[in-house]
Amino acid sequence: MVEYLQQLKGKVALVTGASRGLGRHIATALAAAGARVAVNYANAAGDAEETVRLIAANGGEAAAFCASVTEPSEVEALAARVESHFGRAIDIVVNNATGPQPMFTVEDSTWETYQDQLDFFVKAPLLLLKAVLPGMKRQGEGCIVNIGSEVVQLGNANFSSYVTAKSAMIGMTRSWASELGPSGIRVNLVAPGWIPVERHAGADTRGYAAGVPLGRVGEPADIAAAVVFLASSGAKFITGQCLSVNGGNTFGI
Ligand SMILES: NC(=O)c1ccc[n+]([C@@H]2O[C@H](COP(=O)([O-])OP(=O)(O)OC[C@H]3O[C@@H](n4cnc5c(N)ncnc54)[C@H](OP(=O)(O)O)[C@@H]3O)[C@@H](O)[C@H]2O)c1
Repeated sequence: MVEYLQQLKGKVALVTGASRGLGRHIATALAAAGARVAVNYANAAGDAEETVRLIAANGGEAAAFCASVTEPSEVEALAARVESHFGRAIDIVVNNATGPQPMFTVEDSTWETYQDQLDFFVKAPLLLLKAVLPGMKRQGEGCIVNIGSEVVQLGNANFSSYVTAKSAMIGMTRSWASELGPSGIRVNLVAPGWIPVERHAGADTRGYAAGVPLGRVGEPADIAAAVVFLASSGAKFITGQCLSVNGGNTFGI
């Protein structure tokens, strides 16, 4: 392993929505790089325990924490429980959790359909940041990685609720990076392309893959590797950036 990646040793990482999908892979990759990982979930306790088991089987340290990231009191309690469990302030937060992502025409969209997405991608990261900020400031360092999406560049039709919320994440990432940089806290965003996970089982990816310069859909490990890099000291001079991990499917922002 490259030396800078080993510098996650001893750090405490909290990954939201880590019971399956990209979150599980991000959690296991952070643990493989030496971090002690809080595996957050809201519903699937058994799946979260499976993530913990996978990490332990690989020689890592993790524990599962139930909390809905959109509920202020639960987020505050989550941060406190994680810090108390690991005996250290949280060093790394990965805002990954998502609820359902339904598609709506503009006619069928409502403020509520927008707010449902904003709750996950703006409200939840804000609640979590406020909960972990005192500890990070005390330690003089910290790292936030927001999981965005390439839909911001693609502007997918019939998906404006989700696209709008993922777009907001970019401005939020940059503003937080400017404000928190002087406290040693870095804030970046990883924007995945289509990365088939459990919920995409059976989907036909060929049409999408054909348009990707690297000729395939992504794998969860592609996203996990980008997150581990941004969390590591190899990225210690990188903040406020959006890293697209999509085989070149989009450029810019
Ligand atoms: N996969 C892709 O192709 C892709 C592409 C671009 C961007 N992304 C982004 O990547 C992130 C992960 O996506 P994914 O495809 O891995 O999703 P996923 O497989 O549907 O997993 C979602 C995770 O969020 C958790 N969750 C749901 N509601 C929650 C809540 N209220 N509080 C805490 N956790 C909650 C779920 O756990 P429980 O049900 O156990 O609570 C689950 O672990 C999302 O931000 C998504 O927008 C994914």
